Amino acid sequence: MSRLRFRISMSLDGYVAGPYQSVDQPLGVGGRRLHEWVFPLAAFRRQHGQAGGEDNASNRIVEESLTNIGATIMGRHMFGGHPGTWHPTKPWAGWWGSNPPFHHPVFVLTHHARKPLVMEGGTTFHFVTEGMEAALAQARRAAGGRDIALGGGANVAQQYLAAGLVDEMELHLVPVLLGRGERLFEQVGDQLHGLELVRTVATPKVTHLKFARP
Ligand SMILES: NC(=O)c1ccc[n+]([C@@H]2O[C@H](COP(=O)([O-])OP(=O)(O)OC[C@H]3O[C@@H](n4cnc5c(N)ncnc54)[C@H](OP(=O)(O)O)[C@@H]3O)[C@@H](O)[C@H]2O)c1
Repeated sequence: MSRLRFRISMSLDGYVAGPYQSVDQPLGVGGRRLHEWVFPLAAFRRQHGQAGGEDNASNRIVEESLTNIGATIMGRHMFGGHPGTWHPTKPWAGWWGSNPPFHHPVFVLTHHARKPLVMEGGTTFHFVTEGMEAALAQARRAAGGRDIALGGGANVAQQYLAAGLVDEMELHLVPVLLGRGERLFEQVGDQLHGLELVRTVATPKVTHLKFARP
């Protein structure tokens, strides 16, 4: 059975996005500081069509997270653009340009129906209005036995975490405070649903905490 694997960068005070997300600031105000550690890494650069980059302990963790993924689930805010109904003639097509870095089906949870959006390079965005369990079922079918990445953001991740549906979680704990924004562990309760800390890798820029079911 394919696993639902979740990874996310989080501040010391528990935020995964800054406040006031917008087209100009998709990560929210200050949110970019959560990702500075990943931009120079070879695995991240390769995923975004760029050569070179650093190979270090963080790079190996990012490489691992990209392996054996057949589908991704994300929330409408992570997909981005504007809230509410889609623009009738020029609907938002994601942050990632014409060739997004997924190269597999992506299931976007939203309450606003829309036809699938086929992009270059094997990425198709499917807009799921039937809820988080339907999105997971569709992603499982599409993944063809491979694992499913839970991309985020906070709201969608909270639902899968609270329901105990996440099989693996990697927190990239970044030593900054955001002070406000979207906090990951809101409305999640006090249960990790069998997830245990199985690996810690500490670097000066980020500490990676991997949780899995033993
Ligand atoms: N730190 C990281 O590594 C990381 C990773 C990923 C994302 N992010 C950031 O996180 C932020 C987005 O997180 P977020 O918590 O604001 O939002 P989100 O989880 O990306 O999306 C929330 C939206 O998804 C839709 N939705 C959620 N659950 C649904 C359900 N069960 N059924 C139907 N639709 C559902 C709703 O959209 P509608 O209003 O369309 O119905 C809802 O408003 C962005 O800034 C993004 O850049 C950070």
